[in-house]
Amino acid sequence: MGTVTQKVFAPIANDGALVAPPLYHDEARQGSAYAEQQPIAVGLAAPNARLAYIETYGCQMNFSDTEIIAGVLKQEGYTFTREETEADLVLLNTCAIRENAEEKIWNRLKHLKGLKRKRPHLTVGLMGCMAERLKARLLEQEQLVDLVVGPDAYRDLPNLLARVDDGHRAINVLLSREETYADIAPVRLNTNGISAFISITRGCNNMCSFCVVPFTRGRERSRDWQTIVQEARDLYAQGYREVTLLGQNVDSYNHEEVGFAQLLVKVAQVAPDLRVRFTTSHPEDMTDEVLHAMAAHANICKYIHLPVQSGNSEVLERMNRGYSREWYLERIAAIRRILPGCAVSTDIITGFCGETEAEHADTLSLMREVRYDYAYMFHYSERPGTLAARRYPDDIPLEVKKARLQEVIDLQLKHNLERQQEMVGTVQTVLLEGNSKRSEAHYAGRADNNQMVVFAKGDTQYAPGAYVQVRILEATGATLIGELIGTVQTL
Ligand code: SAH
Ligand code: SF4
Ligand code: F3S
Repeated sequence: MGTVTQKVFAPIANDGALVAPPLYHDEARQGSAYAEQQPIAVGLAAPNARLAYIETYGCQMNFSDTEIIAGVLKQEGYTFTREETEADLVLLNTCAIRENAEEKIWNRLKHLKGLKRKRPHLTVGLMGCMAERLKARLLEQEQLVDLVVGPDAYRDLPNLLARVDDGHRAINVLLSREETYADIAPVRLNTNGISAFISITRGCNNMCSFCVVPFTRGRERSRDWQTIVQEARDLYAQGYREVTLLGQNVDSYNHEEVGFAQLLVKVAQVAPDLRVRFTTSHPEDMTDEVLHAMAAHANICKYIHLPVQSGNSEVLERMNRGYSREWYLERIAAIRRILPGCAVSTDIITGFCGETEAEHADTLSLMREVRYDYAYMFHYSERPGTLAARRYPDDIPLEVKKARLQEVIDLQLKHNLERQQEMVGTVQTVLLEGNSKRSEAHYAGRADNNQMVVFAKGDTQYAPGAYVQVRILEATGATLIGELIGTVQTL
């Protein structure tokens, strides 16, 4: 698995459709979540050091967890490689969100079995959400894996690896009510040196009926705010200029009377030129206080990922989302009122249990009303053990789910382009991430609203991490094309 293979904005219309910068990956990424950046080598292998190769699937939280896993392994003396063929330890950090995500892992494991035949000492481990969902069943399957570790058990990796060294197969899938890995220094494996993730909560208490996450990640817990602020400070000192605070529902963050709005402000105060992003906001819990905190701080990016899932209140009820169409639209109105110009993205599921044509039409009409800047779109995939799997028949034929998904994608592609066209002629503050992937003569970076902007270098020499002013010249529906105007002194 090399670096990123998929274009940032390219829509994928198979299992999950992606018409936005990646938040969720059903493909593995050894590179970073940012396709425009150049991967960097991760240290040179010391003689006799064990080499680990880690592949990550799923959401940004899983990418952040891979950095924790790498932190634990580093303490054990491991170094890291980008070549699975030279590794002593291959770990797949997996996702269980849709059936398709798990199928990909089974195929990878079969491939790795071939590698194991050639390298008998190779240890193969399955980490993350699929490990948690399938537990010991994974060890029984065709002896494909030596090690199974759930998302709350990464601290136990040294013991588990020692057991494997002793010729056993090892598993720990215990979920915890406390674990936040607050004291483990993440190893930034796939970094561009500019942008980093900071996990602020783990788990989820929401129990949306379609969702496997509460089962794979356990109860929600908030990480000590002081360790979050310290991590942001450390990153800033190392030259990072953007942090993304991560949680399944960031709005429910609460630690020692510090709620999400207060946490945002504390992180924003680390430095005026440290951009702060966050994901995911939950429509039921996103408060005006958070929106006002965003308005008051220029370095909190004006971009909110607010997954709606469906535009119909009855479907939302069956999904157990905790809000109605009207409530959701009121939250959108609050964003438009308090943060004019703020970009909004969403997640949509088509073909959920019992979804009628009229209910599906409500999703399309809501999309027209909101006109999202981006969307991540999926057709419903039943997950064993979830509320929906127990309560409702998965009764929408696959072709219908897919046809509805295609309608949703087509509409979103139109909105993507329209939203981008609205930016043409404006001057944007862009945080420079490096060279454009396609041309050494161009820089690439992100605007405040998360859009990727590419522009000619001319004879300028900016380092990654610089803020520059760029006039937007052209919208492609994917990357924006601009021209460099000058340096930005203050955000
Ligand atoms: N915590 C986030 C979502 C995390 S999962 C939230 O509440 O919004 C990411 C997205 O995957 C979800 O928003 C949903 O759109 C999609 N998803 C989750 N379970 C799914 C399923 N069983 N089938 C299809 N899509 C699903
Ligand atoms: Fe899943 Fe709902 Fe929790 Fe999001 S809020 S992770 S969709 S249960
Ligand atoms: Fe997948 Fe687990 Fe994230 S199921 S989407 S990796 S929380």
